[in-house]
This record gives sequence, structure tokens and C-alpha cells, in this order.
Amino acid sequence: MSLHLGDTAPDFTATTTDGDISFHDWKAGSWAVFFSHPADFTPVCTTELGRTAALGGEFQRRNTKPIALSVDPIEDHRGWAPDIGEVSGTELNFPIIADPDRSVAELYDMIHLGEGDTSTVRSVFIVDPDDKIRLTLTYPKSVGRNFDEILRVIDALQATDANPIATPADWTPGERVIVSPALSTDDAKQKLSNVEEVKPYLRFADAP
Ligand code: BEZ
Repeated sequence: MSLHLGDTAPDFTATTTDGDISFHDWKAGSWAVFFSHPADFTPVCTTELGRTAALGGEFQRRNTKPIALSVDPIEDHRGWAPDIGEVSGTELNFPIIADPDRSVAELYDMIHLGEGDTSTVRSVFIVDPDDKIRLTLTYPKSVGRNFDEILRVIDALQATDANPIATPADWTPGERVIVSPALSTDDAKQKLSNVEEVKPYLRFADAP
């Protein structure tokens, strides 16, 4: 199934390290970072899930719940969890979905046969409180993801939802933003601070 930005993230039920969940009920009212990894007891995945655990406070501050998935069984997730805590210095503080029948992985198109086998690649779905897909990323099995970038995108999505702005290349929170093309410069000056017109189509303003 091909999932696009703006689509409703498909609901599913699954067994996780935190018990059985229904995805929409589990995330109710929150943002979610739903991400797959290829396999338990593997090096890159251990660093990725450890980094996610260490960033638990950052996700919480953004009203965002992380949740991971691999096609390994729940017993393997439970056996691997202590290693994640040991590596990151933070106990596993988010659920890992066990998907041995690959039903969720297939629903989210997380298995790419060109990547070698029928384990999941490194997919990321950022899903908003209305269950809409707001960002997708797909990384190969050999490359660990940048979780600071995932936090940065959540910051940008939340800022652009709340204000008539967009964010420029390499933006980080606090830096100047781009005035939404839908807003005239006069209107922008009423709504935003320190508006500068570099081109008629490129106006910067202070972060709201
Ligand atoms: C890893 O997590 O280290 C890994 C898993 C599958 C393929 C390549 C690397």
C-alpha cells in the first residue's frame, strides 16, 4: 500500500513490549513517530532505539510518542530491551511492536525486497494528533537515522501548523522563518515581527 502525506495513518492492532495496542487509541491526541528497524540484536538498530529512549524527554515536550516495529517476535524484543538501556543509559521507555506475520509492515510498505530480505527497512512516519501522516522518511538498513532531525521536523510542523509560516533550509527553532506565500507582506507585518522582503516571493520574519 502506498501511503502519502495527508493520508490517515492506517489503524492496526498489535502486540508490543507495553502490551496489546490499537494504534489510534494508543496515540490518541498525541503526535507519533512510528518507525521500523530491520532486526533485534543488531548494532545500528541498538543505537537507534537507544537514542530514541535517551530523547524521551524531548519527545514528551513535543506531545509526541515514539513507537518502533520489527518483524521479530515479542520474546526477542523483551530479550533485547535491556541491551538498549545499557547502550543508551536510559531504559526502554516506548513500545516496540512485534510483527512476525508482517501484517503491519506490509500495511505501511516497510519491506523493500531490494534491500536484501523480508525484514523491514528504516521507515519513519510522523503522524499528527488527527492521525494524518505528516512526514515519511525511508533509510536503508546500513544507515542509522538522525533523531535530532526527526525532532527538528516535529518542531517545524508544529510551528507551521500554529502560524502562517514555512521554514527555510536547515532551519532550527528560534531562527527566522519564511512568511507563508498565502499572506501579503502587509498582512504579514500585522501578524509577524520584523518582516523583511528579500524577493516579492521570499519574506523572512522572526520566529513567532
Ligand atoms: C543493524 O542494525 O546494524 C543492521 C541491521 C540489518 C542490516 C544491516 C544493519
